[in-house]
Amino acid sequence: MEDTLVLIKPDGLKNHLVGEIIKRYEQDALDIKNMKLVAPDEKLLSLHYEEHIGRDYFKDLMDFMLSGSLIALVLSGDNAIERVRAINGKTNPKEADKGTIRGDLAEDLRHNLVHGSDSKDSALRELALWF
Ligand code: CDP
Ligand code: MG
Repeated sequence: MEDTLVLIKPDGLKNHLVGEIIKRYEQDALDIKNMKLVAPDEKLLSLHYEEHIGRDYFKDLMDFMLSGSLIALVLSGDNAIERVRAINGKTNPKEADKGTIRGDLAEDLRHNLVHGSDSKDSALRELALWF
C-alpha cells in the first residue's frame, strides 16, 4: 500500500470537473484517505513547487494556482503514485492520451487540472506539506 497526493487545481473547480475527476480515481479502486478544500497561500505553493522556482513559467504557474480554491486528496492503494500519474496523463494535454484526465478534459500545459506526486520521496514531502 502506498499514499500519494493529488491536487485538483483551480480550473477543475471553475469548470465543475471535481466529481468527474474523483470518479476516475475511484473507478480504478484507489481509496480516498483524506480530502479537503484549500485556499493555499504563496508560501505553501512555493514549497510545493520548489523545484520549479526560477523557471520562466513559475510566476504564471503561481498566479494560476492562487486563482481559486483547490481540492487536496490523499489517495491510497498498491502502486498508487504510478497509477495516479497514469490516470492523470502527460503534463501537456496535447500529448496526453485519450482516456486520461488531462487528455480528455484539460485546456493547456498550465491549466492541466491535476497534480500527482511523481515519486515516493515527493509523495512523503508533499503529503506533509498539505496534510
Ligand atoms: O504536473 P507534472 O508533474 O506533470 O508536471 P511538471 O513538469 O512537474 O510541472 C508542474 C506544473 O507546472 C504543470 O503541471 C503545469 O501546471 C505547470 N507548467 C507550466 O505552467 N508551464 C510549463 N511550461 C510547464 C509546467
Ligand atoms: Mg511534477
